Amino acid sequence: MLQLDDARLLDSLARLAEIGAIDGGGCARLALTDEDKAGRDLVMGWMKALGLEIRVDAIGNVVGLRAGREDLAPVMTGSHIDTVRTGGRYDGNYGVLAGLEAVRALNDAGIVTRRPIAVAFFTNEEGARFQPDMMGSLVYAGGMGLNEAYAATDADGVSVGDELRRIGYLGPASPGGLKPHAFVELHIEQGPILDEEKIQIGVVESVQGISWTEYTVTGVSNHAGTTPMRLRRDAGYLAASVNVFARRLAREMAGDQVATVGSVVLRPNLINVVPNRAVFTVDLRNTDEARLQEAEARLAAHVAEVAREERVDVDAKVLARFEPVAFDARLVDRVEHHAQALGLSTRRMPSGAGHDAQMMQRICATAMIFVPSVAGLSHNVGEHTDPADLAAGAQVLLNLLLELAEA
Ligand code: GLV
Ligand code: MN
Ligand code: MN
Repeated sequence: MLQLDDARLLDSLARLAEIGAIDGGGCARLALTDEDKAGRDLVMGWMKALGLEIRVDAIGNVVGLRAGREDLAPVMTGSHIDTVRTGGRYDGNYGVLAGLEAVRALNDAGIVTRRPIAVAFFTNEEGARFQPDMMGSLVYAGGMGLNEAYAATDADGVSVGDELRRIGYLGPASPGGLKPHAFVELHIEQGPILDEEKIQIGVVESVQGISWTEYTVTGVSNHAGTTPMRLRRDAGYLAASVNVFARRLAREMAGDQVATVGSVVLRPNLINVVPNRAVFTVDLRNTDEARLQEAEARLAAHVAEVAREERVDVDAKVLARFEPVAFDARLVDRVEHHAQALGLSTRRMPSGAGHDAQMMQRICATAMIFVPSVAGLSHNVGEHTDPADLAAGAQVLLNLLLELAEA
């Protein structure tokens, strides 16, 4: 069996993690920032050193192509290298660098596969700076137009188009121009299941649906000491009420329903002033589309009810909305097969997090491989996966890529 060099994989993960490094061992490489550019430059340099033919497309996705014996559609792997502002070093990066390590193993062994192999990193998977998340792979799969993506702005009003140009990653290739035969994404689980159950490989069957909404509430600022409660039109009160309601809703609906108010910004944000403005976000997810719609409807009804009582105006803007995605059943079976052939324990599971793979499933057979996250911690500088688990997942990826590239 062709062996993956896990020491080199760990080394490349550590080197990429030096870029945008923050206290606690994590990374801040928000999409299209200087830190993201530096990370891109490093990884693209590695792609070049491996002899890959590099295509940078018009949304900044970078694909490194390794030629096959025949000019067929490539087998593609990859993920993202952008992070949330307080991210770990494995989310996304692991899948990209394991893909490059697989190419390194093939190069070292002098193996030329029948199909080409491609390793990609997609722009703005995180959606932490620009929405929607999975933007690069969504555009790649034809689910969003370039102009719409370019027009997305961050909290300071800076656009994706301007930032792509500024960092030099608005490339000439057409997104999706290279249509893969299959796509496989290796990723850390980012949740507690594999770690709790002491299972080595998650065989990912689906990704849950995602609903992101930003609410802008307008009330009236007034004196905190003199304004009787009955006269208040408190924008902050609605934000707080929705946060409490979201928790209760998820508890009541049980099953896979999760709900998060991750950002609340009040104005003027002072101790003795009733807020006249609140901007807050709600992230709802469920593996079942009908249940997700139920959660959305119940949350919207709560917002409307409290807004009426408090006499505040509310504007709701959908930032991202993706239905649950089922991966290719045959390919999912092959993930399980290769993991078990290596003597690894497996478990079939849905993904709680969003992934580029869910977009790629729109254009080709797609599957994902998960490895455990210690204590289920992710989007946190303390994110950790044991080196042995990182190595096991990468070996499953290599073996699967080899099979697919000969098919
Ligand atoms: C994106 O990675 C998300 O799941 O929030
Ligand atoms: Mn990720
Ligand atoms: Mn993430």
